[in-house]
Amino acid sequence: MPPAPRITVIGTGYLGATQAVCMAHLGFEVLAVDVDPGKIEALASGRLPFYEPGLDTLLVDTLATGRLRFSTDFDDAAAFGDVHFVCVGTPQSSGSDAADLRYVDAAFGELARRITGRALLVGKSTVPVGTADRLAAMVREMSPAGDALELAWNPEFLREGYAVDDTLRPDRLVFGVTSAWAERMLREVFAPLVADGVPVVVADPATAELVKVAANSFLATKISFINAMAEVCEAAGADVSLLAKALSYDDRIGGRFLKPGLGFGGGCLPKDIRAFRARAEELGVSAAVTFLHEVDQINLRRRSRTVDLVRELADGELQGVRVAALGAAFKPDSDDVRDAPALDVARLLYLEGASVVVYDPQANANAHRAYPDLDYASSLAEAVNGADVVVLLTEWAEFVSADPEDMGVLVAHRRIVDGRSALDVENYRAAGWEYRALGRPA
Ligand code: UGA
Repeated sequence: MPPAPRITVIGTGYLGATQAVCMAHLGFEVLAVDVDPGKIEALASGRLPFYEPGLDTLLVDTLATGRLRFSTDFDDAAAFGDVHFVCVGTPQSSGSDAADLRYVDAAFGELARRITGRALLVGKSTVPVGTADRLAAMVREMSPAGDALELAWNPEFLREGYAVDDTLRPDRLVFGVTSAWAERMLREVFAPLVADGVPVVVADPATAELVKVAANSFLATKISFINAMAEVCEAAGADVSLLAKALSYDDRIGGRFLKPGLGFGGGCLPKDIRAFRARAEELGVSAAVTFLHEVDQINLRRRSRTVDLVRELADGELQGVRVAALGAAFKPDSDDVRDAPALDVARLLYLEGASVVVYDPQANANAHRAYPDLDYASSLAEAVNGADVVVLLTEWAEFVSADPEDMGVLVAHRRIVDGRSALDVENYRAAGWEYRALGRPA
């Protein structure tokens, strides 16, 4: 048996750190590389630089095996790996909707310049279709290894909050390859998962790149579809929660990602649908994805509608109104506030003159860095104390399970906007709360 391939992971954000830890957990020798010495130092000493349930303990366990190491040096990466996973970020460009590919280009370039023998570079980042082909040409040109250095694309579908589970038990694996050898290498690396029955789709790199943006576009569309229905329900006096429930019994539709509310945010869905539109325009097929503009707009309208509901409960005027904003993260079980609908609503309320106190079980520190002007409480009780209106923005279990009676004792007025349709409306109304939710009758 030839020795198992040695793996490097470039970039140690959510994606890269999870990939590195999980690969070491599966038994591979792994070297993770990042240009940020602070991140590398934290990870090497067993501390995760972000919140992700389960990954913290798995990091400590895998470090103890000696199979997981860290470095800031691309020379180490080039010398170490047979398979190099590139997991760097592709944020939205400033001033345009297109993806900013500078980190991806830099990572592939730094590796290619240094690698001298046979190796496989595997892109995992979410990129515009065509990036892999462009990078393959660049790498061939600049690497001393020449044709011995190959490139593949293997998109990642993990969700924050479920990163470990999604990596070790993904719904599917997609290999975008141009040679039988590249496919064989990826099959070796993912052998433990394939043995557990995870399906593999082998495709060309362009299809693999597109699978990722298509999946995120579909998910965003599903969320905006139900939120568009919420808008209609609001005008018609109907109830979108019951509508969603009735739709979900149709197997062809299904109930997942059909939860009405404040909509999607985070570091992926919003920027991915925008970058997809920008790329489609370059390819001359913008009409095919014009609907993604509507998906984006429906999503953003939910934020101003939530502000409207808070204003309505505050008798039409937000100036000087004390609002408890429950949640800042873009979703529960995450400390990520990138493009977070919750924090955006808190900001909009503040701009209208409300005195906003934010509490999030994990994201207060990140939120404070993003919006230092808002006030932050260190507990749910402190946030709601004396509030004129409470608004639920991120459906953390702590908020969903809070007792309306206990909370009612602390607030100035029992008035709540449920921005995630996550609370038990009957319980709240029985405890004397005025309850409003997006897409549901008053
Ligand atoms: C998303 C995808 O789900 C992953 O498959 C993908 O790998 C990832 O982006 C990525 O591209 O890296 P993530 O951003 O972690 O994962 O979060 P999701 O669980 O998809 O939630 C996205 C947003 O949609 C959240 O703000 C959530 O509150 C919102 N959402 C979700 C709804 O408003 N309604 C729903 O029914 C479901």
